[in-house]
Amino acid sequence: MKIVTIVGARPQFIKAAMVSRAIDKHNNANSSKIEELIIHTGQHYDENMSRIFFSDLRIPQPSWQLQCGNGSHGEMTGKMLIEIEKILLKAMPDQVLVYGDTNSTLAGTLAASKLHIPVIHIEAGLRSFNKMMPEETNRILTDHIASFLFCPTSKARENLSREGITENVFQVGDVMYDAALLFGEKAEKKSTILSSLGIKSGSFKLCTFHREENTNHIEHVTGIIKALLTIGTVNSPVILPLHPRTHTYLKAYNLLQAVQEHPGIHLIDPVGYPDMVMLEKHASLILTDSGGIQKEAYFHQTPCITLREETEWEETVLAGWNQLAGTDTERIISCYNNSKIGSYIDEYGSGNAADKIISYL
Ligand code: UD1
Ligand code: UDP
Repeated sequence: MKIVTIVGARPQFIKAAMVSRAIDKHNNANSSKIEELIIHTGQHYDENMSRIFFSDLRIPQPSWQLQCGNGSHGEMTGKMLIEIEKILLKAMPDQVLVYGDTNSTLAGTLAASKLHIPVIHIEAGLRSFNKMMPEETNRILTDHIASFLFCPTSKARENLSREGITENVFQVGDVMYDAALLFGEKAEKKSTILSSLGIKSGSFKLCTFHREENTNHIEHVTGIIKALLTIGTVNSPVILPLHPRTHTYLKAYNLLQAVQEHPGIHLIDPVGYPDMVMLEKHASLILTDSGGIQKEAYFHQTPCITLREETEWEETVLAGWNQLAGTDTERIISCYNNSKIGSYIDEYGSGNAADKIISYL
């Protein structure tokens, strides 16, 4: 079986790392082989947003490297669609594999479906019920086109069922949990991020934010930054690995300098996955608008505050690990004062979601 995998953005590299490993494992144990070829759309392209993941996580090199980053949603998705179609026409795979909710995912899905190539969607069924998020459109369209849908949680499966999608839907657990288990241990041995930042386990907070609905509104960014300026102290700073989009907007809103000069905030470049895992494991608290990081907070047993009004990972809120704070300064600080650990969540599988996906395929 020949599969073309389409990735382009940071979280997809991490998910693909786990599935590529499962494909390798399958090929070593079976005579019927899966050939996987990777298209990297170039949506993320900085060294520490892209290449670092391929080397750290030993992801097979892409067979095709496109340069479709930047631009508006339509421009980016359109460019990808044109280029991916050309590749698929030559490669003619049996299936196309996409992850999550990015523009790369939608472009890959559209290109494949027009050529009648079945689409496999990993991380199917997630919904925020907020169509202002570009990701919500991407995931709904992808789910309605895909031929095989792998859901990480029961809620995701229910979401699909409510939309009439019930065939070839498999609840397999979360490949991000597979990654957290595998790299959680490795990171402890390999990562030196705590000592290089001069921080100790339990005496710092970790924050990331990059969502368009936050960065593109000055009042949302200001609300978050004001909260961080209050929460971060010299003895327990906020570590802020800055997504390039966030960097651009902090500068544009004249907030960058205040953040850089505050002794309770350590602004750093985005880090590789093992370093991120170390930060997540040893932080006393995580503040984020990231989808993946909300769950990783739970995987590593760190309380989380989500800088959004809704989440696709409702079970983390119900279990008490995660609080929805939006971007209002007072609300974030109040959640900070109330942050606590929660209870066990029986949803993400047992660390073998990628193996299960390959065995179903
Ligand atoms: C994208 C995904 C989002 C995902 C996120 C993961 C969509 C619609 N959004 O959002 O679902 O959560 O990736 O991080 O697909 N930039 C750089 N260098 C890079 C990458 C981006 O400078 O390596 C800058 C560019 O100015 C770019 C901007 O960041 O225009 C936004 O990048 P983009 O990929 O469009 O959106 P993300 O916010 O990263
Ligand atoms: N991540 C990372 N380095 C960073 C920030 C994030 O390795 O500096 C990882 C993080 O651990 C998670 C994934 O990237 O696995 C999440 O990516 P992001 O927050 O960009 O996207 P989302 O999950 O919101 O789609």
